[in-house]
Amino acid sequence: MIDPALKPEDRFDLTMRPRHLAEVIGQERIKDNLRILIDAALHRGDPLEHVLFYGPPGLGKTTFAHVIANEMSVNIKVTSGPAIERPGDLAAILTNLHAGDVFFIDEIHRLGRAVEEILYPAMEDFALDFIAGKGPSARSIRLRLPRFTVIGATTRLALVTAPLRARFGAVFRLDYYDLEAMRAIVARAAQLLNVQIDEEGMREIAQRSRGTPRVALRLLRRVRDFATVRANGVITRKIACEALDLLEVDSLGLDDIDRRVLRTIIEKYNGGPVGLSTIAASLSEETDTIMDVVEPYLLQLGMIERTPQGRIVTRAAYEHLGCKFPDERPAQPTLF
Ligand SMILES: Nc1ncnc2c1ncn2[C@@H]1O[C@H](COP(=O)(O)OP(=O)(O)O)[C@@H](O)[C@H]1O
Ligand SMILES: [Mg+2]
Repeated sequence: MIDPALKPEDRFDLTMRPRHLAEVIGQERIKDNLRILIDAALHRGDPLEHVLFYGPPGLGKTTFAHVIANEMSVNIKVTSGPAIERPGDLAAILTNLHAGDVFFIDEIHRLGRAVEEILYPAMEDFALDFIAGKGPSARSIRLRLPRFTVIGATTRLALVTAPLRARFGAVFRLDYYDLEAMRAIVARAAQLLNVQIDEEGMREIAQRSRGTPRVALRLLRRVRDFATVRANGVITRKIACEALDLLEVDSLGLDDIDRRVLRTIIEKYNGGPVGLSTIAASLSEETDTIMDVVEPYLLQLGMIERTPQGRIVTRAAYEHLGCKFPDERPAQPTLF
């Protein structure tokens, strides 16, 4: 069942999502590991160990959570860190789980401290501890829970507290997909969407999707619209290029905000070093967007580097933007 309240984009995401491990493209190491975890748990008749996924948005964390639940033939209860405001909210969810269920917590780094404290014994001992009564008559009560599996997802592993991290039996980092995997993801989506696209068209979209399936799916839809209006629906390399140029997605997949970040560092801060929040403020963009979406990809491309003093732009970025690389970077004041 697809929730009718979902935004169209999210609904689209759901219908495009692989349901079985074998349908998931790329991320071979994670799939191999999950296959073993899942088969071993099924073999023993145990619930799966708690699993944590981390990595930039759009790489498949939520997809993996659903695939796992499906492969284990269990229900999945979906929530997110900020949605669980009070310990009582978490207790209510936990007491309604069935044995083996997957409890998916997206943005798990945003769980409140008090909520986290309830989660520790729940994950470790499948128990809820609470205090009943007040004053001298207060006593601690332990409620048994069914054995369930927490699947956590986060874009910021560094913000997941060490005790929470320690309670996951397996932690997987999702990386950007290589070009072959991206091509296969575009091909699969085109088939599901009944889009006519040739090999070169697929490669062009794959190339400009910043190694991110969600971006590939979005660009495919935009290019499909363009092809429908301008070219009787068939996507060729030429059509893909025209559509993507119109969307200002360049040959490396950089879009307007990526280029503005690079330009700002180059033009306003002499190539850096400069802090991310300063960049975000001078662009009137959210620091989170820059941290989660823009920076990881620019780092991956080698266009920016992290230094203790802040981010600096590399020669590759100057060249990509057609800017002259300064012969000598002005000396930067060091702050202590
Ligand atoms: N490995 C993959 N193979 C095929 N499609 C994928 C894959 N990973 C992600 N997708 C697609 O990309 C979209 C975004 O994935 P999602 O799991 O929501 O990312 P995340 O939770 O990491 O932000 C989904 O619609 C999903 O169908
Ligand atoms: Mg997600």
